[in-house]
Amino acid sequence: MTTRVGFVLLAMCISGSVGQCPHSCICTAIEWKGLTVNCSFRQLTEVPPLPYNTIRLFLQNNSLTRVSAGTLDRLLNLQEVDISHNPWSCDCDIWYLKVWLESQTLVRNSPHVQCSAPPSLSRTPLYHLSGNQLSDCRTLRPIKCHQFFVRDLFLIGPSLLILLIFTCFLIITKRLACRVAINSSRNIRRLTSAKNVLKSK
Ligand SMILES: *[C@@H]1O[C@H](CO)[C@@H](O)[C@H](O)[C@H]1NC(C)=O
Ligand SMILES: *[C@@H]1O[C@H](CO)[C@@H](O)[C@H](O)[C@H]1NC(C)=O
Repeated sequence: MTTRVGFVLLAMCISGSVGQCPHSCICTAIEWKGLTVNCSFRQLTEVPPLPYNTIRLFLQNNSLTRVSAGTLDRLLNLQEVDISHNPWSCDCDIWYLKVWLESQTLVRNSPHVQCSAPPSLSRTPLYHLSGNQLSDCRTLRPIKCHQFFVRDLFLIGPSLLILLIFTCFLIITKRLACRVAINSSRNIRRLTSAKNVLKSK
């Protein structure tokens, strides 16, 4: 009995330090492992900030239309998720959720994880969605050249530096090798001439 109370207290401590239960949800500790976070049937329009140690996540039967990219990435211990019966808006942004779902082991009611907008995709399950069905993606403008350069400066800079150091190193070692070769050939010459001197004597 006392060990169980201990477990619950420990779980509460861990859950407190790892992340707060969202106001609109009910969280129950699964021993010391983590939390069941039940946010279902709450008319939520946004996914609330979720505790890191969420193991089971219920978000079904809400009014969720989108999840911003990265929102769910920190839920590393998730084992079960239900996001069915939400009016998902299947524009380009839904791609994050689709890919994230595919990385989950247990997705409950996945046939009922459906698009509700745009009308052409209404009731299409997310896992059936293909890239070319998301027409809005085409409006994404390609990144401009200078943006690319600025963004990658941090990569290009160090690479150039490493290349420079490597080239210097190559040149120096080549010179050294030359010097050693010259020295040794001089030594050989010296030796042979010494031998000849000895022979002639
Ligand atoms: C989650 O909450 C809903 C509504 O409060 C309830 O009906 C459901 O049984 C709960 N599910 C779990 C797994 O606790
Ligand atoms: C959840 O929502 C769907 C449609 O949005 C509805 O058909 C279903 O009955 C709801 N589930 C429950 C248990 O109310």
